[in-house]
Amino acid sequence: MKTMKLGNSTLEVPVVAVGCMRIDSLEKQEAERFVQTALEEGANFFDHADIYGGGTCEEIFSEAIHMNDDIREKIILQSKCGIRKGMFDFSKDHILESVDGILKRLQTDYLDILLLHRPDALVEPEEVAEAFDRLESSGKVKHFGVSNQKPMQIQLLQKYVKQPIVANQLQLSITNANMISNGINVNMENDSAIDRDGSILDFCRLNDITVQPWSPFQYGFFEGVFLNNDKFPELNKQIDEIAGKYDVSNTTIAIAWLLRHPAQMQPVIGTMNIERLKDCVKAGDIRLTREEWYSIYRAAGNILP
Ligand SMILES: NC(=O)c1ccc[n+]([C@@H]2O[C@H](COP(=O)([O-])OP(=O)(O)OC[C@H]3O[C@@H](n4cnc5c(N)ncnc54)[C@H](OP(=O)(O)O)[C@@H]3O)[C@@H](O)[C@H]2O)c1
Repeated sequence: MKTMKLGNSTLEVPVVAVGCMRIDSLEKQEAERFVQTALEEGANFFDHADIYGGGTCEEIFSEAIHMNDDIREKIILQSKCGIRKGMFDFSKDHILESVDGILKRLQTDYLDILLLHRPDALVEPEEVAEAFDRLESSGKVKHFGVSNQKPMQIQLLQKYVKQPIVANQLQLSITNANMISNGINVNMENDSAIDRDGSILDFCRLNDITVQPWSPFQYGFFEGVFLNNDKFPELNKQIDEIAGKYDVSNTTIAIAWLLRHPAQMQPVIGTMNIERLKDCVKAGDIRLTREEWYSIYRAAGNILP
């Protein structure tokens, strides 16, 4: 699998990350086969969160991979914290407690990357800085990042946090690409011109923060998959045509579309299907042409001014 550097760190990571939010849908043996296949495919970067399955996804994963020191060295583990029932919580105590829980469930003594999951309105960045320092000096977390954050929120954190923010995990797919389209429709009187995230894509590029698109196959907020979906006839026609040209599946092309963006994104895929996982991995070998990339963008209903 093709690899890249994560943010401005020296950490070499696969270009596609394996999201584990849905691993609790698998039986034990299926989960074992899934993680084993991921490793064989070079997809050794696993994305977790303390809330996935109420913590069970991290447990199922560490059991399935038969975690031990030897395996641990071969994989890259990312998890997230900061979401609690009815609130978001970036307090120092909550971050520290959460990481201890994550490490226990993953059966490891360190995380390669910790992300703050969703912006906390009551964030006190000085506290986050204290928590990050403690986690770094104890060796419990090697790198730090955020998720679903705007430029100003990252800048506020960086005013106090000395560790670089290496990643920002954001919702992005072909059918959910406002962060791309508002950069194309600057100052136009159409919906695509609405800047919903403070030009986060350009900000991340400017600051060497890796964008990790989550739900790369979904439209809306978990409304369903756009591939093979009658709601998106033009888009599917276009993707299928390009898939035929490269002799790959439409799944591969949907990920190749994200990888073609020069921001060097690292999509976080959520499939638990082994064949689809392999198809996603293949995307790393395909570089769409400019014409193909824009044809898919337009077929999704996006307009060019
Ligand atoms: N930071 C955040 O706020 C946030 C939020 C949500 C998710 N995430 C992360 O992002 C990861 C991915 O999210 P997601 O699962 O919603 O993303 P996704 O990859 O867009 O969706 C995967 C789901 O779509 C299904 N699917 C059906 N047809 C498919 C096809 N042709 N290709 C691929 N998938 C197909 C999969 O089923 P099969 O298993 O049968 O293939 C699976 O249920 C999560 O695991 C999690 O790590 C982060």
